[in-house]
Amino acid sequence: MNAIESVLHEERLFPPPKEFSAQAHIKSLAQYKRMYRESIEQPERFWAKQAENELVWFKRWKRVLQWKEPVARWFDGGQLNVSVNCLDRHLDTPVGNKAAIIWEGEPDSVSKPGEERVLTYKQLHREVCRFANVLKRNGVRRGDRVLIYLPMVPEAAVAMLACARIGAIHSVVFGGFSAHAVADRVCDCGAKVIVTADGGYRRGTIVQLKKNVDEALKMTDERGRRLGRTVEKVIVLRRAYNEIHIEEGRDVWWHRELEYVTADCPPEKMNSEDPLFILYTSGSTGKPKGIFHTTAGYLLGAKMTTKYVFDLRDTDVFWCTADVGWVTGHSYVVYGPLANGATTVMYEGAPNWPEPDRFWRIIEKYDVTVFYTAPTAIRAFMKWGEEWPRKHDLSTLRLLGSVGEPINPEAWMWYYEVIGGKRCPIVDTWWQTETGSIMITPLPGATPTKPGSATLPFFGVAPEVVDDQGRPVSPNVGGKLVIRRPWPSMLRGLWGDMKRYQEVYWKEVPHAYFTGDGCRRDKDGYFWIVGRIDDVLNVAGHRIGTAEVESALVSHSAVAEAAVVGRPDDLKGQALVAFVTLKSGIKPTRDLREELRQHVTKEIGAIARPDEVRFAEALPKTRSGKIMRRLLKSIAAGTEINGDTTTLEDFSVLTRLSQAEED
Ligand code: PRX
Repeated sequence: MNAIESVLHEERLFPPPKEFSAQAHIKSLAQYKRMYRESIEQPERFWAKQAENELVWFKRWKRVLQWKEPVARWFDGGQLNVSVNCLDRHLDTPVGNKAAIIWEGEPDSVSKPGEERVLTYKQLHREVCRFANVLKRNGVRRGDRVLIYLPMVPEAAVAMLACARIGAIHSVVFGGFSAHAVADRVCDCGAKVIVTADGGYRRGTIVQLKKNVDEALKMTDERGRRLGRTVEKVIVLRRAYNEIHIEEGRDVWWHRELEYVTADCPPEKMNSEDPLFILYTSGSTGKPKGIFHTTAGYLLGAKMTTKYVFDLRDTDVFWCTADVGWVTGHSYVVYGPLANGATTVMYEGAPNWPEPDRFWRIIEKYDVTVFYTAPTAIRAFMKWGEEWPRKHDLSTLRLLGSVGEPINPEAWMWYYEVIGGKRCPIVDTWWQTETGSIMITPLPGATPTKPGSATLPFFGVAPEVVDDQGRPVSPNVGGKLVIRRPWPSMLRGLWGDMKRYQEVYWKEVPHAYFTGDGCRRDKDGYFWIVGRIDDVLNVAGHRIGTAEVESALVSHSAVAEAAVVGRPDDLKGQALVAFVTLKSGIKPTRDLREELRQHVTKEIGAIARPDEVRFAEALPKTRSGKIMRRLLKSIAAGTEINGDTTTLEDFSVLTRLSQAEED
């Protein structure tokens, strides 16, 4: 969306429906503003009150916040356990027998529906305690890292909560990532145990998770050392019943291990600042960053945002479609809903398998009331046609959410009209792996929305749009989005690399957390996120570091140099275009192009596979040898090349690139 278009859209204001506001936690803009002001003017008082009301503690904290830029300590001195907050606290209440997780597996075909499972809070508690004992039996102790590489099955949530119960730190790796990505992450966090499955289902095929783990554990670094040398045990869930290799002494079956344990597992008393999980995400260098979150602050953020942003009620059936391998799955499939005693839906498969109405079918079948998905999915649904949602009764829906990338007003309107029947407010929620929970968002009973804007900050969040010198810009002027003060669910650092944490987030703008996003704020103070302004792309709602894809490409023996840029894409937001120069003597062919795309899939995963590979004789560089990405972006987008190109080392490179038709 360009600036003019978005300014036009600002004319459209959607006030919260009156009936919605009447029942909402926050009922008016004035109430939101009052609470927001309190959260900013007296943050410690505000957060102490929230921590007391929302969480159960073994021991109360001594200090609400200790801030020594860039490291925050929240609720220091306090002790609690995340699994107790998500499970035990509900057991003796009416929530105990309520569905905690409703799960649906991927169907085989149109006529053969997927499996269904419902776990009540009591059942989930039992499963978590049993698996926590399995982890202990396999040597996992407080502070150890456990890598979880599972499909979207309830056991993924069970494994995460089991880690939390015994104080182990989980690192969930999305099932679509390759063996290589698993190996890198295992190595970086020094995982002691891997929890995986024989396979997972995706669009009718089996994803070979265990095979990838086997491969990952054989991989070595440049010095010949095994990347997975810290791994002592691999716990394997039987899911796909496919044949797999079992390594004696290292690999054990989940279901067999359960035979040796009881369901009695007292929770570990964790300190507020003990790490809860590490989640890897792409940055501007070739190596993914291990974002880590701690116990109390993260949980408070996840719990409060789920309650207020989704205006949670006891009767809600909440469905966030994200995979647990992403932060959205952590905060809004597992921790946020469960901490609130809500019913959370998990679905294993793809939105269009076996037919494009999977999601609508599930909403109808389980009476989903709150639905949270990504713009890229909404745009795909638009393309597949209205007839698919029209076939289903979606009248139970009362609130819709969007996350992961800017939502274009056209998709917003379609979501509002076709899925929400013009009665459901839409919450466009801006946040990041680093922020742990939602940061900029409407509150559905309070905030009038504008299609395409994430609107206003959540409680305690102080965002600002600044120029290159860090000065606030005027309304409607674009700049960098920063956050001015610490918030409870903020990342505490990069695992094992606090120096990089400081450099990536706290150097760009003095005394502010730099988000990496471009943004403008309109005259009403509404935030309009433009997208990444660093070397990170947002492809179908997933963060892809260009440097990561480039280093995957140059690891292919035919490639000399590679530069990856984004080009606008109607469906995915951005598509990946790779410019590649080959080693001398190697001919650019169609086969090689396909081979390079496959190579990236193998190195990282299908989500990073370039949409286009363009061969060039050379890459345009400045005199100092920097690749001119701006230029490549224009070429990739097919737009005119403008701007100053006089520093180009070799003008002729440009023409060659534009015409680089290799076959
Ligand atoms: O560029 C922003 C975009 O997604 C990035 C964060 O990606 P990740 O850490 O993978 O987390 C995704 C889910 C929280 C941000 O820097 N982004 C996320 N939500 C929005 C968004 N861009 C615009 N509008 C949003 N609502």
